Amino acid sequence: MLSQTVNKKGVVAKRGLSLTRLFKPLVFIVALLPAVFAVYGVASSQFVDPVETLLKITGEWGLRFLLITLCVTPIQFIFKWGGVAKLRRMLGLFAFFYATLHLAIWVVLDQGLDLQDAVNAIVEKKFITFGIAVWLGLLVLAVTSNRWSVRKLGRKWKNLHSLVYVLTVLAVVHFVWQVKASELLEPSVYLGALAVLLLWRFLRMVKR
Ligand code: HEM
Repeated sequence: MLSQTVNKKGVVAKRGLSLTRLFKPLVFIVALLPAVFAVYGVASSQFVDPVETLLKITGEWGLRFLLITLCVTPIQFIFKWGGVAKLRRMLGLFAFFYATLHLAIWVVLDQGLDLQDAVNAIVEKKFITFGIAVWLGLLVLAVTSNRWSVRKLGRKWKNLHSLVYVLTVLAVVHFVWQVKASELLEPSVYLGALAVLLLWRFLRMVKR
């Protein structure tokens, strides 16, 4: 009887693992599609203003991946799918990947590699200051997302990585700040999604 239970549990655990194993390369390929679409769009001259479109695509996907990363814990609890946690690091790194492309496009294509101009914009335009702050924060999280850092930092690692909530809030502020009043609907959707995720976290914290 006991061995049967153990066996059954083992099978469930193995199934969960293999589903995630199958899922991971698939998620990786899907996560690369916006970048492929952006390169294809430029190569086939589909964008009226390529620099602005590339900034839009990379900025929005950076933010989307931040929000998707924050969905991992709720999915884990609501659907009782422990294996999804194995996707968290990759999803977070995709947020950093798109944010880095966004920054590179801004520095190289928008600012024409004029570093003096770029520094002036960072100081003078508050939404750019916020963008840089988010990118630097994501850089720290990306660099410390490996097992060695988890072991070295111990309890501090969790606190450091809860910064992702603050960075997502700042990324939404960066978005809201640079749109016109008539374009507020889109950032509001992101703001709403973030509010739901934060509320879920808060309620879970209160329950514990
Ligand atoms: C690294 C420093 C950053 C710089 C210099 C920067 C710069 C910019 C600029 C110039 C725009 C306006 C594009 C336009 O004219 O429409 C923009 C938009 C945006 N950025 Fe950033 N950004 C930075 C970081 C980030 C980060 C880290 C995120 C999120 C992870 C982000 C998300 C967005 C979003 C969502 C938009 C709005 C796109 C749209 O209009 O649909 N940015 N950013």
